[in-house]
Amino acid sequence: MAWIVGIIQSKGGAGRSTLATNLAAHFSLQEPTTIIDCDLPQGTSSSWYALRQARFPSKKFLLAQAHNHIELIQRAKEHAAISKYIIIDGPPRVAEATRAIMILSHLCLIPLGASAAEIWSTTDLLQTLSEAGNYKTEVDARLVWTRFREQTREAQILQNAVHSELKLEELRARLGYRVAFSEALARGLSAEECPDRNARMEVFELAEEVKKILAEKEQ
Ligand SMILES: Nc1ncnc2c1ncn2[C@@H]1O[C@H](COP(=O)(O)OP(=O)(O)OP(=O)(O)O)[C@@H](O)[C@H]1O
Ligand SMILES: [Mg+2]
Repeated sequence: MAWIVGIIQSKGGAGRSTLATNLAAHFSLQEPTTIIDCDLPQGTSSSWYALRQARFPSKKFLLAQAHNHIELIQRAKEHAAISKYIIIDGPPRVAEATRAIMILSHLCLIPLGASAAEIWSTTDLLQTLSEAGNYKTEVDARLVWTRFREQTREAQILQNAVHSELKLEELRARLGYRVAFSEALARGLSAEECPDRNARMEVFELAEEVKKILAEKEQ
């Protein structure tokens, strides 16, 4: 059985592809992994994957693309038979594909950066999450802080707003605001493959926390 991790956020530019590509790169070094790009025609994950394969060709790391929810369900089914991890990079809107990601995924991650707009768009997602919950016993969706600027007043205000407005669990692991993340994305790399030690550690901790959450579901 494959573990499916969906990355969803209706606000564009929130950090979905950054989360998806870093997690996929980490898992692909351990187990057969597929990244499914649902954000087409933009295709950030697809472009990143092409650069990565040119640099580090791997038969155990696959790309699939889905233009809509029907294609997504098909691709997920095909790849569940051959991969251990499937990471889905969702579209920047609440679409049918977003609902399908919620239903297919064992774990949904919602990146939340340092902007109030992302909190508002997460409120839209919450409505969709509760609807998706009608099709499945439990949709496990958790926030991931990204572009996080520790110890700034802005970060504190946003955290307080999130805790009072969005009743969602959040991961302990956070991604800081670091050039390594944009450089890695543009070069087909994971931030774990960049010189910035903090970025490397953040991705490692994120991936290990995701693995631990999934392992707990197996019991
Ligand atoms: N933690 C971070 N630190 C610095 N830059 C970041 C971070 N996370 C994302 N970025 C940058 O912000 C931009 C948007 O991030 P990303 O492409 O991951 O978001 P997205 O939600 O997939 O956006 P889109 O709606 O364009 O698909 C990219 O240039 C990315 O490199
Ligand atoms: Mg993207």
